[in-house]
Amino acid sequence: MIAKPTVIDLFSGCGGMSLGLENAGYEIVYANDLNGDALKTYKHNFPEVVVEQGDINEIDPREVSRRIKRKSVDVIVAGAPCQGFSTSGKRNPNDPRSKLFLQVGKFLKVFKPKIFVMENVSGLLSMGKGDTMKTIIKNFKDNGYHVTYQVLSADEFGIPQMRNRVFIVGSLKPIPTEKIFPKPSKSKPVSVKDAISDLSFLGLDDHSDTYHIKPLTPYQKKMRKGTKTLHNHKSAKHSNKIQKRFSKVPPGMDGRNALKKSDTLKRDYYRLHPNKTSRTITTLPEDLIHYKENRIPTVREMARLQSFPDNFVFLGPRTTGGRQRKFSCPQYTQIGNAVPPMLSEKLFKQISKVLDIHF
Ligand SMILES: C[S@@+](CC[C@H](N)C(=O)[O-])C[C@H]1O[C@@H](n2cnc3c(N)ncnc32)[C@H](O)[C@@H]1O
Repeated sequence: MIAKPTVIDLFSGCGGMSLGLENAGYEIVYANDLNGDALKTYKHNFPEVVVEQGDINEIDPREVSRRIKRKSVDVIVAGAPCQGFSTSGKRNPNDPRSKLFLQVGKFLKVFKPKIFVMENVSGLLSMGKGDTMKTIIKNFKDNGYHVTYQVLSADEFGIPQMRNRVFIVGSLKPIPTEKIFPKPSKSKPVSVKDAISDLSFLGLDDHSDTYHIKPLTPYQKKMRKGTKTLHNHKSAKHSNKIQKRFSKVPPGMDGRNALKKSDTLKRDYYRLHPNKTSRTITTLPEDLIHYKENRIPTVREMARLQSFPDNFVFLGPRTTGGRQRKFSCPQYTQIGNAVPPMLSEKLFKQISKVLDIHF
Protein backbone atom coordinates (compact mmCIF):
# COMPACT_ATOMS: atom_id res chain seq x y z
CA MET A 1 0.00 0.00 0.00
CA ILE A 2 1.35 3.46 -0.94
CA ALA A 3 0.99 5.63 2.19
CA LYS A 4 1.08 8.98 0.37
CA PRO A 5 1.44 8.71 -3.40
CA THR A 6 3.85 11.25 -4.89
CA VAL A 7 2.75 13.40 -7.83
CA ILE A 8 4.09 15.93 -10.34
CA ASP A 9 1.61 18.55 -11.64
CA LEU A 10 2.49 19.85 -15.13
CA PHE A 11 0.57 22.88 -16.47
CA SER A 12 -0.48 23.36 -12.84
CA GLY A 13 -2.15 26.76 -13.34
CA CYS A 14 -3.38 28.15 -10.01
CA GLY A 15 -3.74 24.62 -8.62
CA GLY A 16 -7.30 23.31 -9.10
CA MET A 17 -6.10 19.78 -9.84
CA SER A 18 -3.40 20.03 -7.14
CA LEU A 19 -5.92 20.98 -4.46
CA GLY A 20 -7.99 17.87 -5.22
CA LEU A 21 -4.83 15.76 -5.15
CA GLU A 22 -3.80 17.19 -1.79
CA ASN A 23 -7.26 16.59 -0.33
CA ALA A 24 -7.16 13.03 -1.67
CA GLY A 25 -3.96 12.41 0.31
CA TYR A 26 -1.23 12.80 -2.35
CA GLU A 27 2.11 14.54 -1.85
CA ILE A 28 2.81 17.04 -4.63
CA VAL A 29 6.57 17.10 -5.16
CA TYR A 30 6.85 19.45 -8.15
CA ALA A 31 4.64 21.83 -10.16
CA ASN A 32 5.37 23.70 -13.38
CA ASP A 33 3.56 26.41 -15.30
CA LEU A 34 4.54 29.16 -17.70
CA ASN A 35 2.43 31.86 -16.14
CA GLY A 36 3.68 33.94 -13.21
CA ASP A 37 0.24 35.20 -12.12
CA ALA A 38 -1.19 31.68 -11.84
CA LEU A 39 1.92 30.58 -9.96
CA LYS A 40 1.60 33.46 -7.46
CA THR A 41 -1.70 31.89 -6.45
CA TYR A 42 -0.22 28.39 -6.56
CA LYS A 43 2.73 29.21 -4.31
CA HIS A 44 0.51 30.99 -1.78
CA ASN A 45 -1.79 27.99 -1.44
CA PHE A 46 0.86 25.24 -1.68
CA PRO A 47 3.89 26.66 0.15
CA GLU A 48 5.50 23.22 0.56
CA VAL A 49 5.63 22.37 -3.15
CA VAL A 50 8.73 22.90 -5.35
CA VAL A 51 7.34 25.22 -8.03
CA GLU A 52 9.11 26.11 -11.25
CA GLN A 53 7.96 28.84 -13.60
CA GLY A 54 9.00 28.23 -17.18
CA ASP A 55 8.15 26.98 -20.63
CA ILE A 56 7.85 23.19 -20.43
CA ASN A 57 9.64 22.95 -23.78
CA GLU A 58 12.74 24.22 -22.06
CA ILE A 59 12.55 22.15 -18.90
CA ASP A 60 14.71 19.07 -18.63
CA PRO A 61 13.00 16.43 -16.45
CA ARG A 62 16.44 15.00 -15.50
CA GLU A 63 17.24 18.39 -13.92
CA VAL A 64 13.88 18.28 -12.14
CA SER A 65 14.72 14.78 -10.86
CA ARG A 66 17.99 16.08 -9.39
CA ARG A 67 16.28 19.12 -7.92
CA ILE A 68 13.53 17.21 -6.14
CA LYS A 69 15.93 14.31 -5.32
CA ARG A 70 13.61 11.67 -6.76
CA LYS A 71 14.17 9.16 -9.54
CA SER A 72 10.49 8.28 -9.84
CA VAL A 73 7.02 9.42 -8.78
CA ASP A 74 3.75 7.50 -8.49
CA VAL A 75 1.61 9.84 -10.60
CA ILE A 76 2.03 12.63 -13.17
CA VAL A 77 -0.90 14.92 -13.99
CA ALA A 78 -1.06 17.38 -16.88
CA GLY A 79 -3.73 19.87 -17.95
CA ALA A 80 -1.92 20.59 -21.23
CA PRO A 81 -3.58 22.94 -23.71
CA CYS A 82 -4.26 21.07 -26.98
CA GLN A 83 -5.06 23.94 -29.36
CA GLY A 84 -2.09 22.96 -31.50
CA PHE A 85 -4.03 20.18 -33.17
CA SER A 86 -5.75 21.37 -36.31
CA THR A 87 -9.39 20.36 -36.80
CA SER A 88 -8.38 18.40 -39.88
CA GLY A 89 -6.63 16.02 -37.50
CA LYS A 90 -3.20 16.52 -39.02
CA ARG A 91 -0.84 17.56 -36.27
CA ASN A 92 1.20 20.47 -37.41
CA PRO A 93 4.71 19.77 -36.13
CA ASN A 94 5.58 23.43 -36.51
CA ASP A 95 2.82 24.64 -34.22
CA PRO A 96 4.54 25.08 -30.83
CA ARG A 97 1.30 24.25 -29.03
CA SER A 98 1.27 20.75 -30.53
CA LYS A 99 4.56 20.05 -28.85
CA LEU A 100 3.14 20.82 -25.40
CA PHE A 101 1.44 17.46 -25.02
CA LEU A 102 4.55 15.70 -26.36
CA GLN A 103 6.44 17.28 -23.47
CA VAL A 104 4.43 15.13 -21.06
CA GLY A 105 6.09 12.10 -22.71
CA LYS A 106 9.57 13.26 -21.76
CA PHE A 107 8.51 13.41 -18.08
CA LEU A 108 7.00 9.89 -18.36
CA LYS A 109 10.31 8.56 -19.69
CA VAL A 110 12.31 9.98 -16.77
CA PHE A 111 9.91 9.48 -13.84
CA LYS A 112 8.08 6.33 -15.02
CA PRO A 113 4.92 7.05 -12.99
CA LYS A 114 2.56 4.13 -12.37
CA ILE A 115 -0.29 6.31 -13.57
CA PHE A 116 -0.61 9.56 -15.48
CA VAL A 117 -3.72 11.70 -15.97
CA MET A 118 -4.30 14.32 -18.67
CA GLU A 119 -7.29 16.64 -18.57
CA ASN A 120 -8.73 18.52 -21.52
CA VAL A 121 -11.89 19.91 -23.11
CA SER A 122 -14.24 17.15 -24.25
CA GLY A 123 -14.12 18.67 -27.76
CA LEU A 124 -10.73 16.99 -28.04
CA LEU A 125 -12.57 13.70 -28.70
CA SER A 126 -14.12 14.90 -31.95
CA MET A 127 -11.17 17.01 -33.09
CA GLY A 128 -9.94 15.92 -36.52
CA LYS A 129 -12.75 13.33 -36.59
CA GLY A 130 -11.05 11.47 -33.73
CA ASP A 131 -7.55 11.50 -35.25
CA THR A 132 -6.19 13.83 -32.57
CA MET A 133 -7.11 11.37 -29.81
CA LYS A 134 -5.63 8.50 -31.81
CA THR A 135 -2.35 10.44 -32.08
CA ILE A 136 -2.29 11.18 -28.35
CA ILE A 137 -3.13 7.61 -27.37
CA LYS A 138 -0.54 6.15 -29.75
CA ASN A 139 2.13 8.43 -28.34
CA PHE A 140 1.40 7.29 -24.78
CA LYS A 141 1.19 3.62 -25.80
CA ASP A 142 4.61 3.98 -27.41
CA ASN A 143 5.82 5.13 -23.98
CA GLY A 144 4.63 1.79 -22.53
CA TYR A 145 1.26 2.85 -21.08
CA HIS A 146 -2.20 1.27 -21.26
CA VAL A 147 -4.52 4.17 -22.07
CA THR A 148 -8.20 4.78 -21.41
CA TYR A 149 -10.36 7.88 -21.11
CA GLN A 150 -13.75 9.12 -19.92
CA VAL A 151 -15.70 12.36 -19.97
CA LEU A 152 -16.65 13.46 -16.45
CA SER A 153 -19.38 16.01 -15.89
CA ALA A 154 -18.71 18.19 -12.84
CA ASP A 155 -22.42 18.64 -11.96
CA GLU A 156 -22.69 14.87 -11.41
CA PHE A 157 -20.10 15.08 -8.65
CA GLY A 158 -21.69 17.69 -6.37
CA ILE A 159 -20.24 20.73 -8.17
CA PRO A 160 -22.73 23.52 -9.06
CA GLN A 161 -21.58 23.70 -12.67
CA MET A 162 -22.11 21.92 -16.00
CA ARG A 163 -18.56 21.22 -17.10
CA ASN A 164 -17.65 18.25 -19.27
CA ARG A 165 -13.98 17.42 -19.47
CA VAL A 166 -12.15 14.41 -20.83
CA PHE A 167 -9.70 12.67 -18.52
CA ILE A 168 -7.12 10.49 -20.29
CA VAL A 169 -5.52 7.99 -17.95
CA GLY A 170 -2.43 5.91 -18.68
CA SER A 171 -1.22 3.09 -16.44
CA LEU A 172 1.78 0.77 -16.52
CA LYS A 173 -0.55 -2.18 -15.86
CA PRO A 174 -3.84 -2.88 -17.68
CA ILE A 175 -6.76 -1.71 -15.50
CA PRO A 176 -10.45 -1.82 -16.47
CA THR A 177 -11.83 1.66 -17.22
CA GLU A 178 -14.69 1.25 -14.72
CA LYS A 179 -12.16 0.75 -11.89
CA ILE A 180 -10.32 3.99 -12.72
CA PHE A 181 -13.13 6.56 -12.80
CA PRO A 182 -15.40 7.57 -9.90
CA LYS A 183 -19.13 6.89 -10.18
CA PRO A 184 -21.43 9.97 -10.39
CA SER A 185 -23.19 10.92 -7.16
CA LYS A 186 -26.88 10.06 -6.80
CA SER A 187 -27.70 13.19 -4.81
CA LYS A 188 -29.59 16.22 -6.12
CA PRO A 189 -27.41 18.64 -8.17
CA VAL A 190 -26.18 21.71 -6.28
CA SER A 191 -27.77 24.90 -7.67
CA VAL A 192 -26.20 28.35 -8.11
CA LYS A 193 -28.24 29.66 -5.17
CA ASP A 194 -27.19 26.71 -3.01
CA ALA A 195 -23.60 27.67 -3.83
CA ILE A 196 -23.49 31.47 -3.48
CA SER A 197 -26.64 32.89 -1.85
CA ASP A 198 -24.71 33.68 1.37
CA LEU A 199 -22.42 35.98 -0.68
CA SER A 200 -25.12 37.78 -2.64
CA PHE A 201 -25.31 40.79 -0.28
CA LEU A 202 -22.80 42.64 -2.49
CA GLY A 203 -24.14 45.24 -4.92
CA LEU A 204 -21.98 47.02 -7.51
CA ASP A 205 -18.51 48.48 -6.97
CA ASP A 206 -18.27 47.12 -3.46
CA HIS A 207 -16.25 44.63 -1.48
CA SER A 208 -16.33 42.81 1.81
CA ASP A 209 -13.79 40.81 3.77
CA THR A 210 -16.35 39.58 6.29
CA TYR A 211 -19.32 37.26 5.95
CA HIS A 212 -22.65 38.94 6.67
CA ILE A 213 -24.64 35.81 7.41
CA LYS A 214 -24.15 32.18 8.42
CA PRO A 215 -23.91 29.56 5.66
CA LEU A 216 -27.36 28.69 4.37
CA THR A 217 -26.71 25.30 2.77
CA PRO A 218 -24.46 22.25 3.30
CA TYR A 219 -22.43 23.29 0.21
CA GLN A 220 -21.80 26.79 1.62
CA LYS A 221 -20.76 25.27 4.94
CA LYS A 222 -18.37 22.92 3.17
CA MET A 223 -16.86 25.77 1.13
CA ARG A 224 -16.32 28.04 4.15
CA LYS A 225 -14.36 25.35 6.00
CA GLY A 226 -14.28 27.60 9.06
CA THR A 227 -12.69 30.50 7.08
CA LYS A 228 -12.95 33.77 9.02
CA THR A 229 -11.80 36.30 6.38
CA LEU A 230 -13.70 36.54 3.13
CA HIS A 231 -11.11 36.80 0.32
CA ASN A 232 -11.54 37.95 -3.30
CA HIS A 233 -15.09 39.25 -2.80
CA LYS A 234 -14.98 42.52 -4.74
CA SER A 235 -17.70 43.43 -7.22
CA ALA A 236 -17.30 45.15 -10.57
CA LYS A 237 -18.17 48.75 -11.38
CA HIS A 238 -20.39 48.65 -14.48
CA SER A 239 -21.58 51.75 -16.34
CA ASN A 240 -25.30 52.58 -16.23
CA LYS A 241 -25.53 51.43 -19.84
CA ILE A 242 -24.14 47.98 -19.03
CA GLN A 243 -26.32 47.65 -15.93
CA LYS A 244 -29.38 48.50 -18.00
CA ARG A 245 -28.39 45.89 -20.58
CA PHE A 246 -27.86 43.25 -17.89
CA SER A 247 -31.20 44.13 -16.26
CA LYS A 248 -33.05 43.02 -19.40
CA VAL A 249 -31.66 39.49 -19.29
CA PRO A 250 -33.80 37.14 -17.17
CA PRO A 251 -32.33 34.17 -15.25
CA GLY A 252 -31.37 31.24 -17.46
CA MET A 253 -31.25 33.34 -20.65
CA ASP A 254 -28.43 34.92 -22.63
CA GLY A 255 -28.12 38.38 -24.15
CA ARG A 256 -28.55 37.04 -27.67
CA ASN A 257 -32.10 35.89 -26.97
CA ALA A 258 -33.09 38.55 -24.44
CA LEU A 259 -31.77 41.60 -26.32
CA LYS A 260 -32.85 41.01 -29.90
CA LYS A 261 -33.05 44.72 -30.68
CA SER A 262 -29.96 45.75 -28.75
CA ASP A 263 -27.54 48.40 -29.99
CA THR A 264 -24.59 46.12 -29.33
CA LEU A 265 -23.15 42.93 -30.76
CA LYS A 266 -21.69 42.02 -27.39
CA ARG A 267 -24.53 39.87 -26.13
CA ASP A 268 -22.89 36.59 -25.14
CA TYR A 269 -23.47 37.02 -21.42
CA TYR A 270 -25.83 34.67 -19.65
CA ARG A 271 -27.71 35.30 -16.42
CA LEU A 272 -27.20 32.48 -13.96
CA HIS A 273 -30.39 30.68 -12.97
CA PRO A 274 -30.65 30.51 -9.16
CA ASN A 275 -32.22 27.04 -9.15
CA LYS A 276 -29.99 25.38 -11.74
CA THR A 277 -26.32 24.49 -11.92
CA SER A 278 -24.14 27.12 -13.58
CA ARG A 279 -23.05 27.09 -17.17
CA THR A 280 -19.38 26.22 -17.72
CA ILE A 281 -17.19 28.82 -16.08
CA THR A 282 -14.97 30.26 -18.81
CA THR A 283 -11.86 32.39 -18.62
CA LEU A 284 -13.88 35.55 -19.36
CA PRO A 285 -15.84 36.98 -16.40
CA GLU A 286 -18.13 39.02 -18.67
CA ASP A 287 -19.77 35.79 -19.83
CA LEU A 288 -21.91 35.44 -16.70
CA ILE A 289 -24.30 37.77 -14.86
CA HIS A 290 -25.18 37.23 -11.19
CA TYR A 291 -28.58 35.56 -10.73
CA LYS A 292 -30.15 38.60 -9.02
CA GLU A 293 -27.68 41.51 -9.19
CA ASN A 294 -26.90 43.42 -12.40
CA ARG A 295 -23.22 42.62 -12.21
CA ILE A 296 -20.81 39.84 -13.05
CA PRO A 297 -20.03 37.43 -10.18
CA THR A 298 -17.07 38.26 -7.94
CA VAL A 299 -13.91 36.14 -8.05
CA ARG A 300 -15.07 34.41 -4.85
CA GLU A 301 -18.50 33.62 -6.33
CA MET A 302 -16.83 32.16 -9.44
CA ALA A 303 -14.47 30.16 -7.21
CA ARG A 304 -17.48 28.72 -5.34
CA LEU A 305 -19.05 27.65 -8.66
CA GLN A 306 -15.76 25.82 -9.38
CA SER A 307 -15.71 24.24 -5.86
CA PHE A 308 -12.64 26.14 -4.62
CA PRO A 309 -13.05 26.49 -0.83
CA ASP A 310 -13.08 30.01 0.65
CA ASN A 311 -9.64 29.52 2.25
CA PHE A 312 -8.07 29.24 -1.23
CA VAL A 313 -6.80 32.75 -1.97
CA PHE A 314 -6.38 34.06 -5.54
CA LEU A 315 -3.48 36.42 -6.26
CA GLY A 316 -2.32 38.32 -9.35
CA PRO A 317 -4.48 40.91 -11.13
CA ARG A 318 -8.24 40.49 -10.58
CA THR A 319 -8.96 41.22 -14.21
CA THR A 320 -7.12 42.64 -17.21
CA GLY A 321 -7.92 44.00 -20.61
CA GLY A 322 -6.21 45.26 -23.73
CA ARG A 323 -2.62 44.30 -24.42
CA GLN A 324 -2.07 42.85 -20.95
CA ARG A 325 -4.64 40.13 -21.64
CA LYS A 326 -2.14 38.28 -23.82
CA PHE A 327 0.46 37.88 -21.09
CA SER A 328 -1.28 38.00 -17.74
CA CYS A 329 -3.52 35.38 -16.21
CA PRO A 330 -5.95 37.29 -14.00
CA GLN A 331 -7.80 35.64 -11.12
CA TYR A 332 -10.95 35.06 -13.20
CA THR A 333 -8.90 33.28 -15.88
CA GLN A 334 -7.07 31.18 -13.30
CA ILE A 335 -10.45 29.94 -12.05
CA GLY A 336 -11.87 29.36 -15.54
CA ASN A 337 -8.79 27.30 -16.49
CA ALA A 338 -8.92 25.06 -13.44
CA VAL A 339 -10.09 21.53 -12.84
CA PRO A 340 -12.78 21.80 -10.12
CA PRO A 341 -10.93 20.71 -6.94
CA MET A 342 -13.87 18.58 -5.74
CA LEU A 343 -13.88 16.65 -9.02
CA SER A 344 -10.11 16.21 -8.86
CA GLU A 345 -10.42 14.93 -5.28
CA LYS A 346 -13.05 12.35 -6.24
CA LEU A 347 -11.05 11.15 -9.24
CA PHE A 348 -7.80 10.81 -7.33
CA LYS A 349 -9.41 9.07 -4.34
CA GLN A 350 -10.57 6.45 -6.83
CA ILE A 351 -7.10 6.32 -8.42
CA SER A 352 -5.62 5.78 -4.93
CA LYS A 353 -7.64 2.58 -4.71
CA VAL A 354 -6.24 1.50 -8.10
CA LEU A 355 -2.69 2.21 -6.89
CA ASP A 356 -3.30 0.14 -3.75
CA ILE A 357 -4.86 -2.84 -5.50
CA HIS A 358 -2.88 -3.03 -8.72
CA PHE A 359 0.63 -1.82 -7.83
C1 LIG B 1 -5.94 24.47 -18.53
S1 LIG B 1 -4.70 25.33 -17.67
C2 LIG B 1 -4.27 24.19 -16.39
C3 LIG B 1 -5.17 24.25 -15.19
C4 LIG B 1 -4.69 23.46 -13.99
N1 LIG B 1 -4.48 22.07 -14.31
C5 LIG B 1 -5.67 23.59 -12.82
O1 LIG B 1 -6.35 22.62 -12.48
O2 LIG B 1 -5.75 24.69 -12.21
C6 LIG B 1 -3.32 25.23 -18.76
C7 LIG B 1 -2.05 25.85 -18.21
O3 LIG B 1 -1.00 25.59 -19.13
C8 LIG B 1 -0.06 26.63 -18.99
N2 LIG B 1 0.85 26.62 -20.15
C9 LIG B 1 0.59 26.98 -21.44
N3 LIG B 1 1.69 26.85 -22.20
C10 LIG B 1 2.67 26.39 -21.38
C11 LIG B 1 4.05 26.06 -21.59
N4 LIG B 1 4.62 26.21 -22.78
N5 LIG B 1 4.78 25.62 -20.54
C12 LIG B 1 4.22 25.49 -19.31
N6 LIG B 1 2.91 25.79 -19.06
C13 LIG B 1 2.16 26.23 -20.09
C14 LIG B 1 -0.94 27.88 -18.89
O4 LIG B 1 -0.24 28.96 -18.29
C15 LIG B 1 -2.12 27.37 -18.06
O5 LIG B 1 -1.97 27.71 -16.70
